[in-house]
Amino acid sequence: MYKILEKKEIAMRNIWYKVHAPHIAKKVKPGQFVIVRAFENGERIPLTPVMWDKEEGWIGLVVFTRGKTTLRINTELKEGDSFLNIAGPLGNPAPMEKFGKILAIGLYTGVVEVFPIAKAWQELGNEVHTLHVTFEPMVILKDELEKAVFKHTVETVSIDPNKSFPENMKNVTARAKEKVREMIENLKPDLVFMVGPVGDQKAIFEVVKEYNIPMEVDLHPIMVDGTGMCGACRVHINGEVKFACVDGPSFDAYTVNWDELIARSGYYRDLEMKAMQLYME
Ligand code: FES
Repeated sequence: MYKILEKKEIAMRNIWYKVHAPHIAKKVKPGQFVIVRAFENGERIPLTPVMWDKEEGWIGLVVFTRGKTTLRINTELKEGDSFLNIAGPLGNPAPMEKFGKILAIGLYTGVVEVFPIAKAWQELGNEVHTLHVTFEPMVILKDELEKAVFKHTVETVSIDPNKSFPENMKNVTARAKEKVREMIENLKPDLVFMVGPVGDQKAIFEVVKEYNIPMEVDLHPIMVDGTGMCGACRVHINGEVKFACVDGPSFDAYTVNWDELIARSGYYRDLEMKAMQLYME
């Protein structure tokens, strides 16, 4: 059992958990993830440890409320409770190389994955600039990133209560594209890295492509087992089938079949909405 040593809300819909998981803390590397099952018969969800302590044997997770399972976790589990099981570390570590100047972008809770990778790249001698674009009440890891990298920039968008959530999200995408263009023009990075919703990854990639700069993306297709057996996370990379859980999660953005990935990511959206509504009734 994976005991919750600490639980706190760090921003709107973003809950931090410090979890006892010594075997994961001992082995995990930046870029790797875990699959969490919180409840009997519950859904398995991939999450990325944002920080960890191998001596003390804990990992830190941030659970963003976005569907039934994450809502259940964030409302039902308390400090002292346990996650039923956590499998990991899974996936490949991020490439740890001297790239030079790096622009690492996180949209919304994507910054959780950016943090350990950006920190490790900076420690390796790269000049890392991070950018977090999100809604105003959802800023997380600001102090931690300011300490960890060369320069951290936060861009926020206020939520317009008269607009639907998807409409509000379009404003975040627009702001991110504008800021990324400005930062590329100013910094001339050697590498761009990005984590966020797949539609936004494609939108940012379209900007980066104009400048012909290498770009890596951590992909998040639907995952079930996280070990390459179910096929749920398949993506087409350079026309070949790859599994994001064992071949990724990081891929060269220029090789990804974005349209297929976007279509596959939305397969269960209606069912997810229905499950959330039923849970809330
Ligand atoms: Fe099952 Fe990747 S999650 S193959």
